[in-house]
Amino acid sequence: MIFITMSEKASENAPKILGVMFVGLMALTITFGVLYGQEKSKNEDAVDSAVTPATTESEVDPFADFVRRGPASTNYCEGTKPKHASAEADWYFNDTACLVDGVVQVLEQAGANVTMGYKGEFNVNGREPITTPYFEAGLCPVNVHWHLGAEHLSVGEYDEMGMGPEDNGSDEREGHTCHHFDAADDKFTKPYDWQYCHDMEVGQTYEIHWPHSAAGACGTVHQYQYPFYDGVFCNPGIISLDPLNTFEKIGVHGQVFTIVNDEEYFYPNLIRGMVVDAEREMGTHVTKYTGSTTGTSRDNDVCSKFTPITWQVDRKCHMISASSFDKMCADMLTQLDDMSGDTHPHGSRETTSDETTANNQQNLRKRYF
Ligand SMILES: *[C@@H]1O[C@H](CO)[C@@H](O)[C@H](O)[C@H]1NC(C)=O
Ligand SMILES: *[C@@H]1O[C@H](CO)[C@@H](O)[C@H](O)[C@H]1NC(C)=O
Ligand SMILES: *[C@@H]1O[C@H](CO)[C@@H](O)[C@H](O)[C@H]1NC(C)=O
Repeated sequence: MIFITMSEKASENAPKILGVMFVGLMALTITFGVLYGQEKSKNEDAVDSAVTPATTESEVDPFADFVRRGPASTNYCEGTKPKHASAEADWYFNDTACLVDGVVQVLEQAGANVTMGYKGEFNVNGREPITTPYFEAGLCPVNVHWHLGAEHLSVGEYDEMGMGPEDNGSDEREGHTCHHFDAADDKFTKPYDWQYCHDMEVGQTYEIHWPHSAAGACGTVHQYQYPFYDGVFCNPGIISLDPLNTFEKIGVHGQVFTIVNDEEYFYPNLIRGMVVDAEREMGTHVTKYTGSTTGTSRDNDVCSKFTPITWQVDRKCHMISASSFDKMCADMLTQLDDMSGDTHPHGSRETTSDETTANNQQNLRKRYF
């Protein structure tokens, strides 16, 4: 039921069927949309037969939407995360081999080399990332989480030559590190008394990701979700396959930080998205490209099928106070959904190979960044 051929030519490199990954997911979303449509007409009948007078036509039937959502405290986003179940329809989301006999089997991956001037070798056939701020494109943040070290690579900012505290045997895979660390300066070494985040270390590099979606429960108590896929796919009928719009409706902000124990670098609203502060060149040098979801289950052998989505990644590494992170974790724990699964660092994916990285990087400064 799920075999849908992509209307857009996914890639000349990728066999159609295998290029279909995300499409399977979209098909499910569409199926949901259809079911929801049926549900909606039933409810419309119910409304008609009840007291409600004829109302003006609107895109969303508020009554049907109310029925779908249930009471305000019900997390109607929960379970919208596509499953890796044994049901046939769910296999499409499973991670898969990146290459078979030297041929790329998936669409573009992340996190990439975001150094100015870098271009991947994967031909995206003209697909472009969102280049405006996400809010202008109708997306809202639906989650925040971070990785130990940077998954992305920015030469001279966060790369193989960076520094940090001595390796203390954490079993998460560590990504690239920044160059700020100085063992002689106690803001990089003085321990911080963490209250809300855990397994965190002063002096360490972390890459924060803020997944955004136009299908999120934007502006409601359900906006922030764990797992983040629940937030990304919360509302049906927005993310579509035909025309393929996943890279226009889903985007992630990435920003890399070294933690300091110094209140000079306090930013109180880190849950909200990438910090933009021109005085400190924060969020002002951004590479935009299309890729996939990340994490340690993927590398250059095993690829993600949640692709294509937009990435906007700050090429610079910034210092930020431990208290900024701890405040963010406190904010995460006050969300209606339980976000405690994301209040510690996750491991980092290896930086993507040239052949699985898109060739559509944009890094010229526009109106904002
Ligand atoms: C997909 O992943 C699930 C869980 O990891 C596994 O049980 C299932 O066999 C996989 N299916 C395929 C076709 O790879
Ligand atoms: C990253 O991209 C820069 C700019 O193109 C390049 O100089 C550098 O060698 C690349 N690094 C890796 C590991 O590919
Ligand atoms: C070791 O590093 C991990 C990961 O950064 C951190 O969670 C942990 O607190 C560190 N342990 C010590 C003793 O510093």
